[in-house]
Amino acid sequence: MAVPILSLLLFFTSIKSSAYHITDTFIDCLNNRSEPTFPITGTVYTPDNPSFSSVYYAYIRNHVFYNSTTTKPSLIITPLHVSHIQAAVICAQKHGLQMRTRSGGHDYEGLSYLSYSNSTPFFILDMFNLRSVDVNIEQETVRVQTGATLGEIYYRIAEKSNIHGLPGGVCPTVAVGGHCSGGGYGNMIRKYGLTVDLILDAQLVDVNGAVLDRASMGEDLFWAITGGGGASFGVVLAFSFKLVSVTSQVTFFDVKRTSEKGIINIAYKWFQIAHKLDNDLFVRMSFDVVTNRKGMKTKTVHASFPSLFLGNSTRLLSLADDNFPELGLRESDCFEMSWVESTVAYAGFAIGTPVENLLSRTQQPERDRPFKIKSDYLKTPISKKGLKSIFKKMKELENQMITFSPFGGRMEEISEFAKPYPHRAGNIAMIEYETYWNEPGTEAANKYLEYSRMMHDHMTPYVSKNPREAFYNYRDLDNGVNHNGKNSYEEGMVYGVRYFKEINYNRLAMVKTMVDPHNFFRNEQGIPPLQSLHDM
Ligand SMILES: Cc1cc2nc3c(=O)[nH]c(=O)nc-3n(C[C@H](O)[C@H](O)[C@H](O)COP(=O)(O)OP(=O)(O)OC[C@H]3O[C@@H](n4cnc5c(N)ncnc54)[C@H](O)[C@@H]3O)c2cc1C
Ligand SMILES: *[C@@H]1O[C@H](CO)[C@@H](O)[C@H](O)[C@H]1NC(C)=O
Ligand SMILES: *[C@@H]1O[C@H](CO)[C@@H](O)[C@H](O)[C@H]1NC(C)=O
Ligand SMILES: *[C@@H]1O[C@H](CO)[C@@H](O)[C@H](O)[C@H]1NC(C)=O
Repeated sequence: MAVPILSLLLFFTSIKSSAYHITDTFIDCLNNRSEPTFPITGTVYTPDNPSFSSVYYAYIRNHVFYNSTTTKPSLIITPLHVSHIQAAVICAQKHGLQMRTRSGGHDYEGLSYLSYSNSTPFFILDMFNLRSVDVNIEQETVRVQTGATLGEIYYRIAEKSNIHGLPGGVCPTVAVGGHCSGGGYGNMIRKYGLTVDLILDAQLVDVNGAVLDRASMGEDLFWAITGGGGASFGVVLAFSFKLVSVTSQVTFFDVKRTSEKGIINIAYKWFQIAHKLDNDLFVRMSFDVVTNRKGMKTKTVHASFPSLFLGNSTRLLSLADDNFPELGLRESDCFEMSWVESTVAYAGFAIGTPVENLLSRTQQPERDRPFKIKSDYLKTPISKKGLKSIFKKMKELENQMITFSPFGGRMEEISEFAKPYPHRAGNIAMIEYETYWNEPGTEAANKYLEYSRMMHDHMTPYVSKNPREAFYNYRDLDNGVNHNGKNSYEEGMVYGVRYFKEINYNRLAMVKTMVDPHNFFRNEQGIPPLQSLHDM
């Protein structure tokens, strides 16, 4: 349907100039709706509040969005009570505002705090105040509010028990809201699966402002928010998880190799066996490029193998000797420690760093840079010739790092329909491409974004196809974008099939149609209802 361009322009202009007016009446609505015992007043930040910027930037983890020209929020609400979330959801719809929920702000594309559409003003519902963690060792469960970070959960579990843990991501500042609604994978994946595989219950504020738990939301919606992303379905307030058992001592190692020839032999074997090793053993493999500045300024690929073994070093060394002698693991490489200490070591802190670091909500400084992430799934081993070609490409481009995380084990046993996350049996590994840079500005950003795309293109022959699968929690707008205001099922299909495969994408769209048919909870890679807004 053709819309006259002039009327579209007028439409956008009128929305923009009335943004502040909308905000004022919106704040009235919030005040009117919040309970007198829990006033919302102190939790609302308008742009003229001196703390607005610091609140906004506090949870922007990808610095590429620091100077972004994409639309910024008209308001930030930092709820202290569930009634504040309910008020926000109801008033936003009444006043035609869009909402973005932010928990830890680790979204790789900034979807929790930016809008790529200029047409509708939006605000951030920032969950960082809602972060209680309640561990129950008798029942072996933990209930966490979505503003809690993974580090906080790991720390609180260890306060109560050294033989319990929770499988989840390795970066301690990642928060529950995005991580646990969108998959959640880490170094216990081979033994216990994804974080979403351990979710027992959830608490959600839906589009009508109702507070639902698993029983009242029903199994379809519960399924959707345990892997399909919370952002399309409501505001997740809390999740409960079943804890898993860990040995009182685990073993961490991170061996480095610097000879390309040697690395090719190790990697070749890795592709044969990393996904078939004992489920207690997770050996990750990471490649990066080191420039030798002395003399010829040559480049070399280095490899590191950050790994976790759920057992002692004696058993580990015997497993490694029997199955993976190419790695050359030695006793001096192995560090025995408690599971919680291993989460600190795995996050990149020096061994022996106090576990209290898990409570810090400040990201490690080396991550405070612009970056781009992409993902792939590997179903067949890469040949030595393939590896050489990959290394050559990494050296041609700049700042490329590629990490292979082994699958197999528990991931082979769980059905691809059990949760929206479909990348289960038949995968050797998930691949993560990281491009970090230091130069500021859009020119540099565009250069490195292009390098990242070229690296990903180069990998095409080696990885999954039809669809070329990608990890939903590694948000990448190159996988397709749903244009705001339209949000068609067909547009959503492009990235939806990569992230969820067709059957799960369709089921997510069906759930969406039931619970949010007018698509209030939307973003650039959200799940749209089966019929687009235009058809309704
Ligand atoms: C340094 C770093 C390391 C990472 N390591 C891992 C890893 O090891 N394993 C892994 O699986 N992933 C990892 N990730 C990816 C991470 O899991 C995702 O980016 C995740 O979505 C982050 O959650 P968040 O709450 O911190 O992010 P946010 O940016 O706050 O949210 C991400 C998305 O979830 C939505 N959302 C957030 N909170 C809620 C809520 N309460 N209700 C409904 N929707 C909500 C947001 O609107 C947004 O769409 C890493 C990311 C970074 C930046
Ligand atoms: C808020 O309440 C006041 C007084 O009851 C009323 O006059 C006003 O219209 C209400 N505002 C909104 C946005 O509901
Ligand atoms: C290591 O673990 C194995 C089995 O898990 C056990 O039999 C052995 O005694 C342990 N060795 C040490 C030195 O703790
Ligand atoms: C943002 O812009 C400022 C001023 O131009 C600059 O100093 C800063 O480095 C930029 N940051 C990024 C991440 O590009």
